Amino acid sequence: MKFTAILAIAGLASAALAANNVTDKVTSLPSCAPLPSNWWSGFLDITPTKSLHYIFIESLDKPATDPILIWFNGGPGCSSLLGLFQENGPFVIDDGETLIKPNPYPWLRGIFGENHPSLKAIIGDGQSDYLNRADVRQALNIPNWIPSYSQCNDAMYGTYMSYREGSVWIYPILKAYGYRLMHYSGDTDGAIPTLGTRTWIQQQGWNVTNDWRPYETEGQVSGYIIDYDNFSFATIHGVGHMAPQWKREDVTTLILKFAHKIPIA
Ligand SMILES: *[C@@H]1O[C@H](CO)[C@@H](O)[C@H](O)[C@H]1NC(C)=O
Ligand SMILES: *[C@@H]1O[C@H](CO)[C@@H](O)[C@H](O)[C@H]1NC(C)=O
Ligand SMILES: *[C@@H]1O[C@H](CO)[C@@H](O)[C@H](O)[C@H]1NC(C)=O
Repeated sequence: MKFTAILAIAGLASAALAANNVTDKVTSLPSCAPLPSNWWSGFLDITPTKSLHYIFIESLDKPATDPILIWFNGGPGCSSLLGLFQENGPFVIDDGETLIKPNPYPWLRGIFGENHPSLKAIIGDGQSDYLNRADVRQALNIPNWIPSYSQCNDAMYGTYMSYREGSVWIYPILKAYGYRLMHYSGDTDGAIPTLGTRTWIQQQGWNVTNDWRPYETEGQVSGYIIDYDNFSFATIHGVGHMAPQWKREDVTTLILKFAHKIPIA
């Protein structure tokens, strides 16, 4: 019961480069414990002049058949490596810490029973410093001419146009295509409050198939969940915007159950 991959799209680069199974392979990360599954890092062509950086990490279980997860950070303007190295990847650096350490609950591992192979903590200088180290860039196949990494692009954030409808319009379309959707929200999130998310979901007029009830992780209430047709909304109790970082086991379990169609509550 594991994901095949986290595909982290890190940012725009102005050159046309293609993903390559051989040249994009990441063999190791400097001063890091051995990678527990195959990694690739490189660039995907988006237009003739624009490419996106990606990192593809194989499942720890059945890479050939496990579901694939694609992760995009928001911001606007933040790098998806932020989520990978803080929230959901196999190695993480917590806020204010200088150690990169194994994540005991990566979105790549089993839900039930199995333990992640034990991995040694490594020394870094926080996420940005870590990702800007020349040896780390080389390991991740980042060419020298690509600018230095920062977690978020403040200029992009500052000029981004906000609209009242946000991205609400996409959900009826995705539902109409038959996609199964889930939204989660840390219930102390001050940036995107649970109340606002609950409100726009209620405004869609979708039929409730299973009303609010608590769901649990290891016998403890993790939050509350409501199901509509092909759409669930789950709260994560007591954590904010970076919910996967501060309730790693609960959120990872929620995500993996959703992906593997295991009842959540
Ligand atoms: C990538 O290369 C390896 C080694 O040559 C090969 O076994 C594997 O099938 C390739 N994977 C893809 C997706 O092409
Ligand atoms: C839910 O998705 C299934 C297929 O995945 C589709 O047949 C059904 O119409 C969807 N239901 C609604 C209410 O969109
Ligand atoms: C809600 O369910 C009713 C009864 O099954 C159905 O007629 C209606 O189309 C559904 N509404 C939506 C938005 O799916």
